[in-house]
Parts: sequence; C-alpha cells; structure tokens
Amino acid sequence: MHTIRVDLGERSYPILIGNGLIAEAGRRVAPLVSDDRVVILSVPPAERLYGDAVRASLAGSGIKSETVLVPDGEEAKTIATYTRVVEGLLNAKAGRGSTIISLGGGCVGDLAGFVAATYMRGVRLIHMPTTLLAQVDSSIGGKAALNLPDAKNIVGAFHQPALVISDTSSLRTLPPREVRCGAAELIKYGAIMDLRLLEHLERERDRLLRLDDDATMRAVFMAAELKAGVVAKDERELSGLRLLLNFGHTLGHAVEVAMEYRGFSHGESVAIGMAGEIRLAEALGMVARETVDRLESLIAGFGLPTRVEGVSRKALIEIMAHDKKVVARKLRFALPEALGKGTIVSDPPMDAINEALKGVVKD
Ligand SMILES: NC(=O)c1ccc[n+]([C@@H]2O[C@H](COP(=O)([O-])OP(=O)(O)OC[C@H]3O[C@@H](n4cnc5c(N)ncnc54)[C@H](O)[C@@H]3O)[C@@H](O)[C@H]2O)c1
Ligand SMILES: [Zn+2]
Repeated sequence: MHTIRVDLGERSYPILIGNGLIAEAGRRVAPLVSDDRVVILSVPPAERLYGDAVRASLAGSGIKSETVLVPDGEEAKTIATYTRVVEGLLNAKAGRGSTIISLGGGCVGDLAGFVAATYMRGVRLIHMPTTLLAQVDSSIGGKAALNLPDAKNIVGAFHQPALVISDTSSLRTLPPREVRCGAAELIKYGAIMDLRLLEHLERERDRLLRLDDDATMRAVFMAAELKAGVVAKDERELSGLRLLLNFGHTLGHAVEVAMEYRGFSHGESVAIGMAGEIRLAEALGMVARETVDRLESLIAGFGLPTRVEGVSRKALIEIMAHDKKVVARKLRFALPEALGKGTIVSDPPMDAINEALKGVVKD
C-alpha cells in the first residue's frame, strides 16, 4: 500500500492506494468517526459490486452504516438529487458528527462532497473512489460540485475529505469505456505537468488498458501525488497552479454542456478538449505540429475521441463565452508550452480559437 499525504495544515489527510483496501475500510475509518452515523452515498453499479464488502468491513470495526443510493452518472449531480439526499439525511437523523462516505466514481463523489460541505454547515467526508478517474483526480483536492442544465459544476464548494481510500483492485470491474475516461485525466496530468507520466502512458498503454496491477498502481500513484502536491500549494485555485489541471476542460466542459451531458462522458469530453486545446497552443505559436500529433496519437491510442460531431463551433464558443462571463470574466485556457509543462493563457484571440476548433469539430 502507498500513502500520499495532502498537506493542508490541520486539514491534511492521507490518500491510501492499494489492492484490497476495501476489506480494510473499517480499520481505516474507525479512528475518524465519532459514535454518530455513517452514511454511505453510492450509485447502483458501485453499490452492487462493493456495498456489502464496505458495510461488512465497517461493521467488523463496530461502525454502523446506512446506505443512500442516488442515480448514476451526472444525474447524481443535480439539485433535485441533492435535495433528496439532504432530506434523507435529515430523516435518518444524521447530525453534525455524522460522516459521509462516497462509494463510486467522480459523480457520486462530487455530490457527496457538496452534501458534506453543506449539510448542517459541514460534516466529515471520506471518499472511496472506485473509478480510475475518481482515484487519480476527483477524490483528491476537495472540489465538490453540482451541475445546472446550462453549466457544468456551477454550484460547488471546497470541502476536503478526511481520508481517501483508493482500492485499485476495485478498478477490475470497470467497463473498458470507464478505464479510457480515467486515462484521459492521466494524459492531462502528463501533458500539462509531468513528461515522465506522459512517457509511462505511452509505454504502458496496453498494460494500463488491461488494468495490469503494476502499471495501474504506478499511474494512479504518480497522478495522485501530482494532484496532492498541486492542492497543497494552491488549494483554492488562487495562484494559477491548480488551474493548470484544467487543460482540456475549458473546451471539454463546453462539449459536455453542448451534448447535454449525454453522448460523451466527462473523460471523453476532456479528450476532445485536449485535442482542441493543444491545437490552440499550436495556433498561438506555443507548440509545434509534432507535439500536437504526439499528444493526439496518445489520446486516440487509448481509444478516446479527438473529434466531435453534431455540435457547431459557434455553439461551443458561445458556451465558453457564457462560462467566461459568469465564472471567470476571462476565457482562460491551461495550455502546454511543451509536453509536461503548462501555462495559463487568458483571452486568446478568437481567430486562434476558431482555427483550433476547426481541427476537432466536424460541422
Ligand atoms: N471534483 C473534482 O476535482 C473532479 C475532478 C475530475 C472530475 N470530476 C467529475 O467527476 C465526474 C466523472 O467521474 P467518473 O468518470 O468517475 O464517472 P461516474 O461517477 O459516472 O462513474 C462512471 C461509471 O462507472 C460506474 N462504476 C463506478 N465504479 C465502478 C466499478 N468499480 N466497476 C464498475 N462500474 C463502476 C459508475 O456507477 C458509473 O456508471 C464528472 O462529473 C466530473 O466533473 C470532478
Ligand atoms: Zn476532469
């Protein structure tokens, strides 16, 4: 087992990464929970596979838990689901000393984070991520969010977990598509901040897609360590460092919204977003064509999409501009200057954006 510490003073917490950790959940969680309630928030696929094992392990350490199921996928991140969960907690008499454990992917993790941040002004949160994407990205760093129909992650909070338990053996049941989606975030880290990780992905692609133990553990560990380091230095995205992790996401979120959260998943949208944004870096004279080709073949090599159909360039630009008005006042992109090294670019010229989009939008 590997332990990575997210260093945030009194809000520091460990990320445990290893095979078979679900069986140890009780032992790991017990020191953190008071005598009060533990509520497991999960989605049907994850609950079916791992719910019994988690509950048994908690019970073995004398922890009683209740399980609340929410709809799968982005449907977990709606205001309607949030309201139902909070009402459920109230009915279950969950109090300020209660603990919420998320069991599943990034969607239920984001919901659980927002519930934990807001229920009674904040209760303890523990993540047990069971997707590759959640283990390498969403379970670390305390960002929690819900979507509105027109804007992704627009309602949110920062609320750090007290513990993250990443059981890498739980990834073995992932459908291949979800493995690819996790790979998209891994490629993001490699492209924007770590050439070594990028090379690992290039070299170990087939082993990763098969979820070979060593290759997977190494990739999860490298990414989690990168994210933990970034979060420790820029928890609230103030210095720009954490913003780097948005590579592929400015355009990726627009793709998600344009497709109404159907069609492409988050990871797939980010893959398209990276293919478009690396072209933006090229249009701005930051990287050469070879860099675009190298990254794009890595993305495609993982079976991820690099083009979007049925959405116009105009629609994507409008969504990004809307986000800009509401969220940051500037249209910001995290772009590689070279593979493994990124920078933030604000309000690039519209013709460069258009040029970049031509490469990825079939309209
Ligand atoms: N908070 C953050 O910092 C952050 C970072 C990155 C992404 N995100 C968010 O994460 C979400 C995407 O997360 P995701 O890709 O994990 O999607 P997801 O949560 O929808 O999970 C994907 C699918 O896999 C199923 N599943 C989960 N574990 C499984 C297992 N072990 N075996 C089989 N099936 C399993 C899920 O039920 C779901 O059907 C997006 O909403 C995105 O915005 C948040
Ligand atoms: Zn993402």
